[in-house]
Amino acid sequence: MFLPETIQQAETQNSAWRASTGRLFRCRQACQDRGANRRRLLIASLLALCVGCLLLLESGSVGSLAESPISNPGRVLLVTAHPDDEVIFFSSTITALHASGLEVFLLCLTNGDAHGLGGVRERELRAAAKALQIDSAHLNILNDSRIQDGHHEEWEQDYVANVVRKEVRRLLINTIITFDPAGVTGHKNHKGCHDGVRQYVTACAMEEEEGSKKCPNAWSLTTTDDLRTHLSIFDIIYSAVDGHRGNESAMFLNHDLLGMFRAMAAHKSQSRWWRHVLLTRYTFVNTLQRVKPLLTDWALPLPVPAGLDSTAVGAGGVQGDLITTAAASSGAVAKRGKFMARMSRRVMKNIRR
Ligand SMILES: *[C@@H]1O[C@H](CO)[C@@H](O)[C@H](O)[C@H]1NC(C)=O
Ligand SMILES: *[C@@H]1O[C@H](CO)[C@@H](O)[C@H](O)[C@H]1NC(C)=O
Repeated sequence: MFLPETIQQAETQNSAWRASTGRLFRCRQACQDRGANRRRLLIASLLALCVGCLLLLESGSVGSLAESPISNPGRVLLVTAHPDDEVIFFSSTITALHASGLEVFLLCLTNGDAHGLGGVRERELRAAAKALQIDSAHLNILNDSRIQDGHHEEWEQDYVANVVRKEVRRLLINTIITFDPAGVTGHKNHKGCHDGVRQYVTACAMEEEEGSKKCPNAWSLTTTDDLRTHLSIFDIIYSAVDGHRGNESAMFLNHDLLGMFRAMAAHKSQSRWWRHVLLTRYTFVNTLQRVKPLLTDWALPLPVPAGLDSTAVGAGGVQGDLITTAAASSGAVAKRGKFMARMSRRVMKNIRR
């Protein structure tokens, strides 16, 4: 135990202690002030950035159609999987296209019946489409027994492709927009939309090569990583820098935030919608990539002719059979080969650019 020996010693100690705590107190206050200032500065700059982004959004100067590779889209068909996809993921695209005076048609492949709410969600989608200024005659909501809503529903690529083909022909569509292979959230149905559209585009490209008609261009919504997705409005800056690579990608900024909120509010049965809308980049900006015809399907070797497996052991007599089989299918092979070569040349040209 330490006790001061004299009163004077005690007093000097006391005053020293008071001085040091005073210093400490003053420092603490100053440091706190400095911390608070720094925080204020950070918040102010974030706000300024946010306002800057909003102004950018309002001016529509970035990502306008004129400078986008989708310069002459004509009649646009948006292919989605569920009611509310059009707002949560595609409202930027829809509002930007409308702002340019273009017609947007919506094909929603399911009515979102996974939890038995199909009828309700169909009505909600009609209201949402109205808020997004999509004409009710431009809206087609399917409830097809082979294309049902759900994480475990397998959609047949060819079947979806056929549905898309019919819609393209019915509406004389020039441009198709849908999800990319990652499907933004990874939902199987979103990927199903992409696979179906790509299948259609591939088949159509093959027919186009045969000379009969012009196929629509297809574009897919680029999925970004979690960080960028949750940068929300700030991702506009990143997208503006990153999103304009050659004529294989395009960018749309949301031109009608109010309409978008009204549309989202129409989806009453979907809880926590605000989380999707406020906290992701897709609300403010969409970047799109061209969907290229799938070449690998055609590049795969033709199916092995029946009988090859059983005869593989006794090699002698096989060759003659093989040659006749090959000769029979050589017409088709040559056609595919020519198509492949032309498509590869085209894709390579695009990559080099
Ligand atoms: C949708 O189709 C399924 C089966 O094809 C049916 O059971 C369901 O009632 C339909 N829903 C609506 C809202 O029409
Ligand atoms: C990309 O742009 C060039 C002109 O700069 C054009 O010739 C080419 O056809 C375009 N590619 C596609 C796939 O549209």
